[in-house]
Amino acid sequence: MADRDSRAGATYATAEILAYAARVHAAHDAALERAFAAPDLFGMPAIQVGANEGRFLEVLLRALGARRVVEVGTLAGYSALWIARALPEGGHLWSLEVDAKHAAVARENLAAAGAQGRVTILVGKAQDLLPRLEGHGPFDAVFLDADKEGYVHYGRWAARHLRRGGLLLADNAFFFSRLLEESPEAAAVRLFHEEVARGFETACLPTPDGLLVGFRR
Ligand SMILES: C[S@@+](CC[C@H](N)C(=O)[O-])C[C@H]1O[C@@H](n2cnc3c(N)ncnc32)[C@H](O)[C@@H]1O
Repeated sequence: MADRDSRAGATYATAEILAYAARVHAAHDAALERAFAAPDLFGMPAIQVGANEGRFLEVLLRALGARRVVEVGTLAGYSALWIARALPEGGHLWSLEVDAKHAAVARENLAAAGAQGRVTILVGKAQDLLPRLEGHGPFDAVFLDADKEGYVHYGRWAARHLRRGGLLLADNAFFFSRLLEESPEAAAVRLFHEEVARGFETACLPTPDGLLVGFRR
């Protein structure tokens, strides 16, 4: 039987094509460049989303008319800046970050971009911080990009606090190629996929490490 994805394991994208797409569709201005470069400059892991994914988040959230967004995993504020730029006047992003140094660098990057009024960065474990956001909901979108062991918990929280028609987005849905491994960590990420697929209208896009998108019915 033919594979349901006849191109499984293959990609037409080359590094040059991805760079071209980023130049044409996701060009950096000085503020995005600063936030993108910050992890390398400040000795942080350079594990931010790529430019094409960041711009995808911005376009998707703008099309949704998102006003209230939660991000789990701030790092240096690069994806937060793309998200903040999607928000209309009065819109807000709450971004959660466990590492105080990452949060400090992100705050500087967002201030340099003039986005500090639209973004609140909270420092601590997302599991502890999420209950503090509940009074600001319901939310239009929740973007997960932190510890993968926490995704099941964050997904359940999102199911309770997203508005109908809101979006759950999760990066690293392929768990760094380990999704199908026999390990408790991989099993937890699969449970996240399966629960979200039951509760949302979902699609999993084959970005470099998979982007799960769920539409709350
Ligand atoms: C992949 S990076 C986020 C990248 C960012 N979204 C971007 O694209 O610019 C993951 C971040 O999540 C943070 N993190 C890890 N576990 C966390 C937790 N339990 N709660 C909050 N943040 C966490 C890490 O310190 C790291 O800064």
